[in-house]
Amino acid sequence: MPHSFVIFGASGDLTHRKLVPALYHLFRKGRLPKDTCIVGFSRTEFTHEAWRNDLAKAVARYVGADFDAKLWDTLAQNIYYQPGDIGEAKDFAALAKLLKEIEKTSPSTRVYYLATAPQFYEQATQQLGKAGLADESGGQRRVIIEKPFGTDLASAKHLNDAVHTFFRERQVYRIDHYLGKETVQNLLVLRFANTIFEPIWNRNFIDHVQITVAEEVDVGRRAGYYDSAGVVRDMFQNHLLQLVMITAMEAPVRFEADAVRNEKVKVLQAIRPLTGADIHRDTFRGQYRGYADAEGVKPGSHTATFAAIKLWIDNWRWQGVPFYLRSGKAMSCRTTQIVVQFREPPHMLFADGPKDASEANRLVIQVQPAEGIQLQFETKVPDAGMRLRQTDFDFRYQREFRGVIPEAYERLLLDALEGDASLFARADEVEAAWGICDPILAEWQRSDQPALQIYEPGLWGPEESTQWMADQGRQWFDNCPVLH
Ligand code: BG6
Repeated sequence: MPHSFVIFGASGDLTHRKLVPALYHLFRKGRLPKDTCIVGFSRTEFTHEAWRNDLAKAVARYVGADFDAKLWDTLAQNIYYQPGDIGEAKDFAALAKLLKEIEKTSPSTRVYYLATAPQFYEQATQQLGKAGLADESGGQRRVIIEKPFGTDLASAKHLNDAVHTFFRERQVYRIDHYLGKETVQNLLVLRFANTIFEPIWNRNFIDHVQITVAEEVDVGRRAGYYDSAGVVRDMFQNHLLQLVMITAMEAPVRFEADAVRNEKVKVLQAIRPLTGADIHRDTFRGQYRGYADAEGVKPGSHTATFAAIKLWIDNWRWQGVPFYLRSGKAMSCRTTQIVVQFREPPHMLFADGPKDASEANRLVIQVQPAEGIQLQFETKVPDAGMRLRQTDFDFRYQREFRGVIPEAYERLLLDALEGDASLFARADEVEAAWGICDPILAEWQRSDQPALQIYEPGLWGPEESTQWMADQGRQWFDNCPVLH
């Protein structure tokens, strides 16, 4: 059966850097469904040939040594281009005609990828609908929507309603590329394909959980977008809350889209809403020095480039276990890690043993870039009386599996082509995530508490954030993983 993968925003950066390289990798590995056509749609006046050439350069650049010109030429025979404006109904009619021609037979499966600027998502879905392109009488029709999905709860609801005018929820794939990361999926495997972790994965054994998404880069050329978004919209509403859900969810009954997403959304529903005083106490915000002078940033901007947020999940499993989330730009290194900090032993026999939870067992899930898992535990140092030292079991993807870890987009694009929405966000999930972030953003806007702390680039965010943790009797696991 023919498959068409239609990219709106075809001349953009995401298409060149991520989408088409991912499709190329899938093709190279023989995973792209047979008879898959890739169709680009954007305002630039390319011919089919010109777009193929343009993509060839990008793919060669981004896939590096895996680029095989002959293989590319084979894939390129199935690449087409439709110049068009998202505002113009006639351009969607032309697209419909082109799709019919290249697909030759019906039914066909179509995936529309909205890689445009976010303000066009609504209009694109309306035009698709009006042109009959969402109608499933000729085969399955799906739409993938990039982040950000709205800028707050109201806009996300509005966008969901608009999308649902023509697409049913099961046709809608809201992307969060963190769910495409191997290590994030492995967290599901770690928890639900093993018996040894689940019995201790709860308030009886866990003191707290830390989720850090640190980036070494600053906002660079994205300052224009970033200044109106800030770290909570850019990273927390989507990626960090996804990591919270996967870490905290109950076992779904099946690995199927709705079963998985039902459990995930329950986690968000159980997060205790933060109100004024909680926000002053349990959130923390920072901005790296130099941000306010960057091009594209409003002078005197108060946009946070770093935040730390303490959340409580009010359910049986997690009652009393804080989840600390933090993320920032211009930090010491690039690392995404989930730290499950266990409690200290209830009665310590050894004078040299762990004194508090920060010295107790710890499970560190390295999401990136040193993908792996470390379990830290106490060991007796030989020939040294009863001296103890923390050592670890150290699992590393590179050592165990060799080879390159695929880009998140590969898995996600393939899942969308095959109709598996397990790793995509559902409407209620996105709205619940905004429901958690909105009050924080509103309070930060309204009040000068917590104060915005300025931090030097290259550190773990503001120094005060270390103190903020220390005041709660805990400490951040500041660790730049060693890559090898
Ligand atoms: C994006 C954010 O969603 O994720 C960026 O908009 C951020 O600001 C990026 O840099 C991080 O993704 P990754 O995969 O590099 O961790």
